[in-house]
Amino acid sequence: MSNDQEPVLAASRLQPGPASCINPTRSKMFVRDMFNETARHYDLANQIFSLGSGGWYRRACLHWAGLRPGMQAVDVAVGTGLLAREMIALTGDARAVIGLDVSESMLAIARFKLKIPLIQAAAEALPLASASADFLAMGYALRHIADLRAALAEALRVLRPGGTVLLLEISAPRRRFAQFLAAIYIGRIVPLVSLVTTRDHGARTLMRYHWDTIVNYMPPEAVQAALRTSGFENVDCWSELDLFHCHVGSKAFEGAAMPAVNRSKSARKNFFFSREVNLASG
Ligand SMILES: C[S@@+](CC[C@H](N)C(=O)[O-])C[C@H]1O[C@@H](n2cnc3c(N)ncnc32)[C@H](O)[C@@H]1O
Repeated sequence: MSNDQEPVLAASRLQPGPASCINPTRSKMFVRDMFNETARHYDLANQIFSLGSGGWYRRACLHWAGLRPGMQAVDVAVGTGLLAREMIALTGDARAVIGLDVSESMLAIARFKLKIPLIQAAAEALPLASASADFLAMGYALRHIADLRAALAEALRVLRPGGTVLLLEISAPRRRFAQFLAAIYIGRIVPLVSLVTTRDHGARTLMRYHWDTIVNYMPPEAVQAALRTSGFENVDCWSELDLFHCHVGSKAFEGAAMPAVNRSKSARKNFFFSREVNLASG
């Protein structure tokens, strides 16, 4: 483990995530600096971690959650734009997606790749009008956010009644053997391959930091509970391997019933094999 991570880990162990939405060890400045320093490695490290399936999986989650053409969408913690790129593919309109992030270096890479409005801002204080979006996503950012409750309150405020929130997150599997395998792959192999491929210790630091945050983060049930206590309805979760979690919720809507989104297992399966999910979106 690199020295700059040890204090983070040690402090996280004193304050394990599951019970709390406040994460005192993730100061905004620490997180911003970490992503600023490692932004150039993010896309490659992500490819290594997901074995090339990241775009495909993100798109399947967005579709499952109900993102469709015509919707106004927000990507909070947009990073280098990996999720936003899939949002554009599904809405079919780059003007329908806005991205926000605290890290200027992550935003600079997103700006280079995507022609969408990008704003430097924190999830806990979104500079967006109330009730202005139909869909708001946060991809793999919960673990880095200092105050999840404030971020969810902002998501609720920015969504229109009937709007959808989607949270993608990774948590350590609960079965010991699965956790052991995940620790070897995500905690050891991915950081090592990232180092060898980039020849930069920053890439290894980034991926080790990811595993540290995964292993110390709250379980999916706690994220679901946080969504409910923040005021979201119809909270649901699609989990794979007890590792990848796709949480959804909607903002209350008083009026004619909204068109229902089919989130059944068979709808998921159909989409995985559909042409739509396999379309090149870059
Ligand atoms: C693991 S990356 C995920 C990027 C992208 N969503 C994806 O799917 O690849 C996490 C991002 O969250 C951003 N971030 C961390 N804390 C944040 C906060 N409080 N508000 C906004 N962005 C934040 C980081 O700068 C980083 O770009």
